[in-house]
Amino acid sequence: MSVIRCSDYSDMGRRAADYVFDMIRCNRVSSVALPTGKTPRLMYAFLAGQLRCSEIDITRISFVNLDEYVGLANDHPQSFAYELQKQFFSKIGMKQLAVRLLNGAAQDLSLECRQHEEWIARAGGIDLAVLGIGSNGHIAFNEPGTPFNTRTHISDLAVATTDRIPSSYAPKPSRAITLGIGTILEARMVLLMASGEEKAPIIRRAFHEPPSVFVPASALQSHPCVTIIADRSALRESR
Ligand code: F6R
Repeated sequence: MSVIRCSDYSDMGRRAADYVFDMIRCNRVSSVALPTGKTPRLMYAFLAGQLRCSEIDITRISFVNLDEYVGLANDHPQSFAYELQKQFFSKIGMKQLAVRLLNGAAQDLSLECRQHEEWIARAGGIDLAVLGIGSNGHIAFNEPGTPFNTRTHISDLAVATTDRIPSSYAPKPSRAITLGIGTILEARMVLLMASGEEKAPIIRRAFHEPPSVFVPASALQSHPCVTIIADRSALRESR
């Protein structure tokens, strides 16, 4: 596991964008799984700029998202799919891209989970999974207690997670579709981003204490190729 220490949020966003951009430029990845939330926002802004200014043929890259709130369709302004489109795909010419975004409003959610997995398999698996981390240790929406071998599934959101959902969501989502920990562990490379002191205790528990299903991110300890890009505040409890 390698750790890239950044001075602050902005530095983390820039370094994460550089990391993903280099992976794409050097042809090391052709399929990428992407998170939403506060942490990766600046990375998307930098990365979109880098891709736009490059000669890279982005149409050869497949993208999937990690998760989506149950009940929200892709065009719902509060959906993760919409957020990703707005922050990233629309900036790099999404129409030409191979993108699969989970549909939280699918009639048959089990089928939606299966189709996400099938799409990933057809893409040849995930080369690079970019992750954030919840303060309770969740990766994607694999909440504490989730077995490490799960595939894409429906997750009951933890109270710590629903508490962070803004009150502008009415009703507040209580479930999400999420890539499983098993699916994430099969990615060839994992990049985990973290910023801010609220993430410091969980970064310590996830990566400096023995793995436990109660800290889902600790599953990454068994992965052969994990890079953590985090700012000083998020790393302040880590050696
Ligand atoms: C969202 C996701 C989540 C977030 C995590 C951290 O797609 O996968 O695991 O990465 O909840 O969220 P922020 O970045 O808002 O602190």
